Amino acid sequence: MTRSKIGIVGAGAVGTSTAFACLSGGVAREIALYDLNAEKVRAEYLDFAHGSMFFEPSSVRGSHDIEVLRDSDIVIMTAGAKPKPGQSRLDVATTNAEILRAVIPAVLEVAPEAIFILVTNPCDVLTVIAQEISGLPRERVISAGTLLDTARLRWLLAHRAGGIAESSIHAHVIGEHGDTSFPLWSQASIGPVPVSEFTLPDGTKPFAEHAQSAIAQEVREAGWAIVQAKGTTNSAIGLASARIARAILRDERVVLPLSIVLEGEWGLSGVALSVPTIVGRAGIEQVLDLPITDAERAALERSATAIRAAVAKVRQ
Ligand code: LAC
Repeated sequence: MTRSKIGIVGAGAVGTSTAFACLSGGVAREIALYDLNAEKVRAEYLDFAHGSMFFEPSSVRGSHDIEVLRDSDIVIMTAGAKPKPGQSRLDVATTNAEILRAVIPAVLEVAPEAIFILVTNPCDVLTVIAQEISGLPRERVISAGTLLDTARLRWLLAHRAGGIAESSIHAHVIGEHGDTSFPLWSQASIGPVPVSEFTLPDGTKPFAEHAQSAIAQEVREAGWAIVQAKGTTNSAIGLASARIARAILRDERVVLPLSIVLEGEWGLSGVALSVPTIVGRAGIEQVLDLPITDAERAALERSATAIRAAVAKVRQ
C-alpha cells in the first residue's frame, strides 16, 4: 500500500467509529487520532493498536498533540457538540464553528495539503465556515452531507422491496443533512424500474407517489430514534466517512451525494448542500447537475434557505 494518511479530529464515538471503519477497511496506510483530551485519545489509540495484527498493513497513532496529524492526506473533522434531543443540528452551529476556528489553522500548519471532510454537525453550515477559515479551494473542503441519509433511504427501500441488494437501489437524498433533506424521487430506480413503478409479487406498489413523503420523513427522523436510544449515532456515519476517504485515496471517481459550496450549480452559489458529485483524488472533482421537478426545486430552495440562515447566525 503506498503511503497514505488519514487524520481524524475528535476521539469521541464518531471519530473512533470512523477510525475503526478506516482500519478494518484498509483505507489508508496510517490512521491518526487527535483529541484535546490526552487521556481519552491515548486510550482509544492503544485500544486500536492492540488490534494491529488484525488490520495490517495499516498503522494507528493517537495524541493530544496536533503534530500527530502531520502530512495527513485527508483530515476528517468529527469533534464538536451534539444537538440535544429536541434540538436540531443547526442549534450547535455557533459552538462548533468556534471549534473549527481554533482547529483548522493548526491542522493546516502540519497538513497543508489535506482534504477536509466535515462530519461535525451542522455539516453543511460548517462546510461553508471551514472553507472560509481555510481559504482552500471548495473541492478540498467537503462534507459527508446526505451520504448517510442516502444510505438510510437505500436500506429502507431495499428492505421494503423484499430484500433487494442496496447496490441495485439507485436513489439519492440531497439538500441539507437535516430537517429539509429530501429524496430525488424523480431519478430513483430499482434496477431499471422507476421506484414509483416497482411492484411487489402481491401486486402492490410500496413506493408509489402517495407513499413517498412518509418515506422521506422516516429517513429524516432515522438518526433521532437512535440518538434517543443510545445518545448518539456513530457506526453508519463512521462507515460513510471511511467510504469518502477511500474514494479519494483510490481516486475512484465514484458518484456520491456530498456537500460542497456550490458556485452556480443547481442555480445556487455560496451555500453548501449535498448534490451528486464525482469524488476522486482531488476531492470533489465535479458537481453533477440534472433536471429535477418543480417540487424538488422548491425543496432544494428550502434547504438552501435553512443553511444560509444558519450561516448568517454563525457570522453574527
Ligand atoms: C446522523 C448524524 C451523523 O444523521 O447527523 O446520524
